[in-house]
Amino acid sequence: MLARVQSAHLLGIEPYWVEVEVDIAQKGLPYFSIVGLPDTTVKESRDRIKAAFKNTGFPFPIKQITVNLAPADLKKEGSSFDLPIAIGILSAEGHIPNKILKDYLLVGELSLEGKLRPVKGVLCIASKLVESGIKKLIIPKENASEASVVKDIEVYALNDLVEVVEFLKGEKTIEPFKREIELSDSDFYEDLADVKGQFYAKRALEIAASGGHNILFVGPPGSGKSMLARRLPGILPPMTLQEAIETTKIHSVAGLLYEGVGLVLKRPFRSPHHSASDIALIGGGQIPKPGEVSLAHNGVLFLDELPEFKRNVLEVLRQPLEDGYVTVARSYATVQFPARFLLVAAMNPCPCGHYGDTLKPCTCTPNMIMRYRSKVSGPLLDRIDIHIEVPRVNYDDLRDDSPSESSKSICERVIKARQIQLKRFQEEGIFSNAHMKTKHLKKFCKLDEDSHSLLKNAMEKLGLSARAHSKIIKVARTIADLEGSENIKYHHIAEAIQYRSFERQIFNT
Ligand SMILES: Nc1ncnc2c1ncn2[C@@H]1O[C@H](COP(=O)(O)OP(=O)(O)OP(=O)(O)O)[C@@H](O)[C@H]1O
Ligand SMILES: [Mg+2]
Repeated sequence: MLARVQSAHLLGIEPYWVEVEVDIAQKGLPYFSIVGLPDTTVKESRDRIKAAFKNTGFPFPIKQITVNLAPADLKKEGSSFDLPIAIGILSAEGHIPNKILKDYLLVGELSLEGKLRPVKGVLCIASKLVESGIKKLIIPKENASEASVVKDIEVYALNDLVEVVEFLKGEKTIEPFKREIELSDSDFYEDLADVKGQFYAKRALEIAASGGHNILFVGPPGSGKSMLARRLPGILPPMTLQEAIETTKIHSVAGLLYEGVGLVLKRPFRSPHHSASDIALIGGGQIPKPGEVSLAHNGVLFLDELPEFKRNVLEVLRQPLEDGYVTVARSYATVQFPARFLLVAAMNPCPCGHYGDTLKPCTCTPNMIMRYRSKVSGPLLDRIDIHIEVPRVNYDDLRDDSPSESSKSICERVIKARQIQLKRFQEEGIFSNAHMKTKHLKKFCKLDEDSHSLLKNAMEKLGLSARAHSKIIKVARTIADLEGSENIKYHHIAEAIQYRSFERQIFNT
């Protein structure tokens, strides 16, 4: 007899519908074969299914079993076909009526004792389920929370193979899994109030958060660069439901959702080590998996010790920084992962870290310093709007116990500034000042004569490049927005120039 079970496979974060066809024939020598471009993990299903049948008391048919995963031209990987194949076999053997199976989509890995194990990417499948014409989803219990995020579908989160069979045969009633989503922004971020002193750096961080500007911290060891970077997600506006779903999908595909987590509500903070490969950063693999830039989607990507990253690794950041997504090309398919993040980079001013330090002398030769700084790729620097020095904290600041401003109160200003930008750009297809193109600069960033001459002066005196020019104006736009000022004024430009004045010293551009 022939049975058909609906299932799904993921390419990137996009689900593809797969029909699992199971044919069981009586004559000839017994075999169990799986066709339809399965990789080795899918082929291993056979052993898991046999053991699961034995340990749950279902008789495994000693017959000719052919399983086809259609469409056959799409490469399949992973263990999520265990459950649909097992159910297909039971249905082909007449244990479950085949006609009821057409209303359900099943995914799940089987343990040897027949328990359902969680699989990756269930939210991606659930969120597109309606498009497949099916409304009922059978999944392992551990995947319940993420799937319940999607409305208008029925999620049945079950424990083991026996329970799935009893449920499908109508012997056991199970209610669809439901959970209300709470989009609360409880205080689970580290607070910027913990950072003593560093007022300029904190101000720069607030501007970066408000306008979506990438930021570079330069300073000696132990001055609080990493501390500041870690606190950036906490001053960004809370994630919207849409953003939370996008981020959760990526984490679900990467297998990074832990049990009970429905939605990733906290803005991600990813901090890859400088020895990370370009694949780790951008994503890839035989069946493409998201990399750090995608895991940081809607959050912060922190590159500590920027000059230590290999040049080719930094070069691959250009596409996501420009487009907000990455493309991973494979011989059989091209996969796109979203990757819109705020970049925070940190570095020491020189190899020993004490160049310009008032207390500790620098032990590096000019040559060493030059080599160190030239390791940072120019095109990457080009995409960082704000450069800020984070000097050593002085003792008085450190022992000062008076309360500093909390992340929560800074975040309120950031939200206001973001709202101004959303309104301004609603017909422009961008969301923040950092993404303005030349036409937007012309339209939204008019300067008066005084500001023009200040900027001209600064460019000449500081020897700033043309690329610095538009960045200063973008940052000035954000400073004006934070102040609620419609026009960019002289003092906004003056402050924005400070966030570039450091550039020439450090990078000689
Ligand atoms: N401004 C500060 N306020 C309070 N504590 C600070 C400050 N700066 C540094 N510290 C303390 O020093 C520790 C190290 O700070 P952090 O790791 O942020 O330095 P860093 O600038 O990233 O150094 P490195 O260049 O070595 O990476 C922190 O864990 C914190 O305890
Ligand atoms: Mg650090």
